[in-house]
Amino acid sequence: MKLDIRSKFLGFFASKGHQVYESMPLIPQDPTLLFTNAGMVQFKDIFTGKISAPSIPRGTSSQLCIRAGGKHNDLENVGYTARHHTLFEMLGNFSFGDYFKEQAIAYAWEFVTEVLGFDKSILYVTVHESDDEAFEIWSKHIDPARIKRMGDKDNFWQMGDTGPCGPCSEIFVDQGEENFNGEEDYFGGDGDRFLEIWNLVFMQYERQSDGSLTPLPKPSIDTGMGLERVAALLEGKRSNFDSSIFMPLIDKVASLCGKPYVYENGASYRVIADHARSVAFLLAQGVHFDKEGRGYVLRRILRRAVRHGYLLGIKKPFLFEIVQEVCTQMGSIYPYLLEKQAYILEQCKYEEKRFYETLELGMSLFQKELQDSKDCFSGEVAFKLYDTYGFPLDLTLDMLKEHSIDLDIATFESCMQHQRELAKASWKGSGDEVSDGEFGIIASLPQTSLAQDNVHQCTSKISALFDENGKSIQSLTQGQGWAMLEITPFYAQGGGAIGDRGWLSNSDIQIAEVIDTRSFFGKTLCQIHSTSPICIGDVLEAEVDVKHQLEVRKHHSATHLLHFVLRDLLGSSVSQAGSLVQSNRLRFDFSFHRALSEDELKEIQNKVNAIIISCKNACIEQMGIDQAKQKGAMALFGEKYGEVVRVVGFEDAGLELCGGLHVSNTGMIGNFYILKENGVSSGVRRIEAVCGQAGFEFACDTLRLEQELKSMLKTQNLSQAILKLQEENKQLKKETKGKIQTDFSEEKVGDTYLIISQAQGDGKEIVDHLKNKYPKVAVLLILNQEEKISLVAGVKNTPIKSGAWIKEIAQILGGNGGGRDDFATAGGKDASKIPQALQQARDYALKALKA
Ligand code: ALA
Repeated sequence: MKLDIRSKFLGFFASKGHQVYESMPLIPQDPTLLFTNAGMVQFKDIFTGKISAPSIPRGTSSQLCIRAGGKHNDLENVGYTARHHTLFEMLGNFSFGDYFKEQAIAYAWEFVTEVLGFDKSILYVTVHESDDEAFEIWSKHIDPARIKRMGDKDNFWQMGDTGPCGPCSEIFVDQGEENFNGEEDYFGGDGDRFLEIWNLVFMQYERQSDGSLTPLPKPSIDTGMGLERVAALLEGKRSNFDSSIFMPLIDKVASLCGKPYVYENGASYRVIADHARSVAFLLAQGVHFDKEGRGYVLRRILRRAVRHGYLLGIKKPFLFEIVQEVCTQMGSIYPYLLEKQAYILEQCKYEEKRFYETLELGMSLFQKELQDSKDCFSGEVAFKLYDTYGFPLDLTLDMLKEHSIDLDIATFESCMQHQRELAKASWKGSGDEVSDGEFGIIASLPQTSLAQDNVHQCTSKISALFDENGKSIQSLTQGQGWAMLEITPFYAQGGGAIGDRGWLSNSDIQIAEVIDTRSFFGKTLCQIHSTSPICIGDVLEAEVDVKHQLEVRKHHSATHLLHFVLRDLLGSSVSQAGSLVQSNRLRFDFSFHRALSEDELKEIQNKVNAIIISCKNACIEQMGIDQAKQKGAMALFGEKYGEVVRVVGFEDAGLELCGGLHVSNTGMIGNFYILKENGVSSGVRRIEAVCGQAGFEFACDTLRLEQELKSMLKTQNLSQAILKLQEENKQLKKETKGKIQTDFSEEKVGDTYLIISQAQGDGKEIVDHLKNKYPKVAVLLILNQEEKISLVAGVKNTPIKSGAWIKEIAQILGGNGGGRDDFATAGGKDASKIPQALQQARDYALKALKA
């Protein structure tokens, strides 16, 4: 049934001249959004005019959306209402300055009544209170008594805090009084009886970051129909969760917990069914469980599901089994779910296991606090639950909701402040507002790029200039700024690879250094450091730093080879999770569940070098996306690919969709060395490596070090010499053990012996020895051995207290410590203060003894 709706919708709009678009990734390139939250996201720049409309100015899609975190956040409603989801599919039709209200309404009406076959007698619509035009048009299709005018809250739609927006009109289905007779079940109320199925947005404005609205270049249409809602209605179900989309998942939960599902008490089953879908798709699309950003939203979703499983009495990882069901169910439409199934399940199970480790303890802390709280749950405990037991705040709030108890949010917030600041910093660029500055104007300027054609030098005119903050300027006297060239030989940063460097000059006199190249709105801009004045209209020589670019090419191609070898050795569940390509190093992040062994790393390095040595030719081709996929080219989630893609391959060693610069033959890479492998977050590993010139330098440094060590140790056989040294060291330690230092100069104050000194060996043994030797004694020793400073103090029959004494002295050395009155230990850091510390220790003791 569900499949049917999707293909009927796309078929209907295709028959009306719409181009069918694929669902874009859930992680949008758009930095103002956390997740793709509507069908229009992939068309945002077309609506605002930043990129020109395609030749067919109408489109349609079935878009996967996430509404958790970010502006449109439904997370806390999920499970408790019939219609909210974290992940859902939105069917939409779009007009890019082509048709507007009249046609959009006519299409929607035709589809709902004729294709889906909804009875006109149960349909209602809303329009924006100011929108007389929409009211008029609707009146031609439906009795005006069934049209309601509503305010901004209900009938004005916008993508995020900024972006295209406009008044909207919504279509509702009346599900009948029989099953829905709550207080809010009137048309316009919040109840479930009148179910909104389709939102038609009349895109007219763009919301700017200062809140103002500017008109779009052309009025456009954006619509969104909830696939899950329509499926439930057509199946005659009162809740989305009762439909054939969710019931198989809910049944599976029931069989795992051994308790049948009953709608009235079934929120936990519904939460799990919903969340399993988000977990499956987010993992498949490359999001990883993390402490912040998108990865933290994923973690919150999983933990919320696990907690609900716990409520149902499930005490071990189970969600992965529901996730498996999702992969089976949706795999025919989204084949990557099946391709990545093993990885998805493994990650899910691992994360569940981690949360189960603290869940039980967290739950008992929660229960205890709940019993102790009268009307407010402690913010400190909520913070402890968050910080120590991994309970996200919304999870705690969710639990409190069931007991109708409030949380002391203010205290929680103040405990969180530090973490919040950290989180904020790392959310930059992934969820927070960004401003386009004035770079936007370059979208309308013409530019020719020579970068693809390997031309490294040309004469060109400056067509725009910006200061460091992106403010448009006419001239730049000196210092940093950005320049746009009419014809540019510079290649912009992209696909993880840094941008070109080079120079701008006039009759052989250098005017500015190009320190980076970036792409904004499809145009290439150079970040420059000018040494002479530069103005719009200046005609200059532009030259790429070819040597730098060549090294970037080598590291970029080596990254492809590394990716290929990793998949070859570790399996195809390895997928790229991030990459950085510079002229002197590369960093490659990939999904894998454990650290790699020394042997594995050696093998990876060997295999990459084997491909380099065998001098394979690069083959770079443009082809249709379908053909590329057929050839097995690896594509990345989060990258937006057009109909025609660029495919980069090295004979039989890998094929990837990639727009970046490469060497023409692997032999040019020269060499490849892995410097480091480590984990960056759960399930993600990172390899850092060098090749080309940087690889050669690394090899030289390593050889130089080896030579130095050989001459220091006067040997050709380093390993043997080091083994010998280790052996000798062990022997010496053995010999000195049991022998303690006794040669201290002591001072007699009254009848008390005072020993304050630096010492070697086991401090406690020496103190014990001295305490045995003298009837009245105070000892404080500072030991500086094995790059560690430690202090011991011990007293017998004196008024000095070891703990207080040592504490004061340790502080002089930048350390801390304490202990009993008769014996205490401490640590220190600053060896240069040892003489001062000894002096102070003596002064302290004298004072105490004379007191
Ligand atoms: N973009 C509109 C929505 O999400 C259609 O409701």
